Amino acid sequence: MPRKLYIRTWGCQMNVYDSDRMASLLAHHGYERTDRVEEADLVVLNTCHIREKAAEKVYSELGRLARLREERRRRGEDMLLAVAGCVAQAEGELVAERAPAVDIVVGPQAYHRLPELLARRARQRGAVIDTDFPPESKFDELPREVAAGGPSAFLTIQEGCDKFCTFCVVPYTRGAETSRPAAAVLAEARRLVATGAREIVLLGQNVNAWHGEGPDGRTWNLARLIRALAEIDGLARIRYTTSHPRDMDAELVRVHGEVEALMPWLHLPVQSGSDRVLAAMNRRYTADDYRRIVDALRTARPDLALSSDFIVGFPGEREEDHEATLRLVEEIGFAQAYSFKYSPRPGTPGSVMPKQVPDAVKSRRLAELQALLDSQQRAFNAATVGRTVPVLFERPGRHPGQMVGRTPWMQAVVVEEAGVRVGDLVPVAITEYHPHSLGGRPVRPH
Ligand code: SAH
Ligand code: SF4
Ligand code: F3S
Repeated sequence: MPRKLYIRTWGCQMNVYDSDRMASLLAHHGYERTDRVEEADLVVLNTCHIREKAAEKVYSELGRLARLREERRRRGEDMLLAVAGCVAQAEGELVAERAPAVDIVVGPQAYHRLPELLARRARQRGAVIDTDFPPESKFDELPREVAAGGPSAFLTIQEGCDKFCTFCVVPYTRGAETSRPAAAVLAEARRLVATGAREIVLLGQNVNAWHGEGPDGRTWNLARLIRALAEIDGLARIRYTTSHPRDMDAELVRVHGEVEALMPWLHLPVQSGSDRVLAAMNRRYTADDYRRIVDALRTARPDLALSSDFIVGFPGEREEDHEATLRLVEEIGFAQAYSFKYSPRPGTPGSVMPKQVPDAVKSRRLAELQALLDSQQRAFNAATVGRTVPVLFERPGRHPGQMVGRTPWMQAVVVEEAGVRVGDLVPVAITEYHPHSLGGRPVRPH
């Protein structure tokens, strides 16, 4: 009987990728993935530390799981509890102190050691903790035979961050910036395509800082890697996320105009439209730098749609700074965006800066910003109605007969039509829009 593994994932796409890699590693050790926590022999919580709320959710989930385990023990069953990801890295032993039910705490660069940690847990009392940044790369240790879980697949090419924005925990939780070699990335991409992927999303905390060893022995940049990926037969779509404006070099901008498979959609977090705040955040660009990058991108690829991240209420943010952010949003026009209230994170420089902004002010600024961003998203979706656009179908919808796919601009499209299968890339006439999706019908060739 295979043992059952349940994984719950929070945070960014890199955690989603890591969860799949943990599952395929543990499959080699007799674990089969389940989506029913009640039957799991091993539960892995793959956690996020980016904002306080994200981290706190983990502890409430651990409380629930500890009670579930008690019940199961009364029935003569058992389960192991592992905490992985960025909370594990940031809090280490503290996780096991706060939640004594936890058996294993493992950081994002050490999870390839999970089988070893499980064996150690069987031998010793108390939690096993591994939050090293090991000298070996997890990518070299993990099983190579990855398989695409669907038509759109994630592929982590870069890890960690050396930028140290003053609000951010990532340099501490994920460690220093490293790039996987191009040959490893290309091999993984070919395996993903061979197992059904038609779209690959390249991932990294600073994905456009990627500079890996090329098969020719030279250092490649992301632009070069994208050109090489575009040569893979059967790979229709390429995306990459998340980019930092500072690493948006001229060649990468050019690739947007030259490589057809590279989708006209870019997530490029700006955080703020105020130069004073950007400097305090240590972003090392100005609002005008950002405007110039967007101009260059739109010159290269006129239909490029932009997405972004914003933080309101960073320490010292005044009303005029907030207005500068609203102005920038109005000028650029975003197709989609995430915006957050600043959350002071332990150990980051921002958390001890003077002039922390009161929560009520943060809430009001966030509401104003989100109203503007929402109206831009609605306008962007409304403008797609009446057009026929290529849609890659990724999964069945919520209701019988429905299929859900994405446009090149990341908009979700729901169709009611039978005859469309997962993995189809077909033109769809868009007939209606909703706040977060579009509706339409596939256009059949005559
Ligand atoms: N590497 C990316 C961002 C990774 S974190 C970049 O440099 O843009 C994802 C987003 O979470 C960030 O863009 C930021 O908007 C938000 N974020 C990070 N730390 C935060 C904090 N302390 N409080 C609120 N939002 C935060
Ligand atoms: Fe965090 Fe800044 Fe690095 Fe992005 S660039 S991961 S926000 S430190
Ligand atoms: Fe969260 Fe870690 Fe990603 S803190 S956003 S899971 S890198």
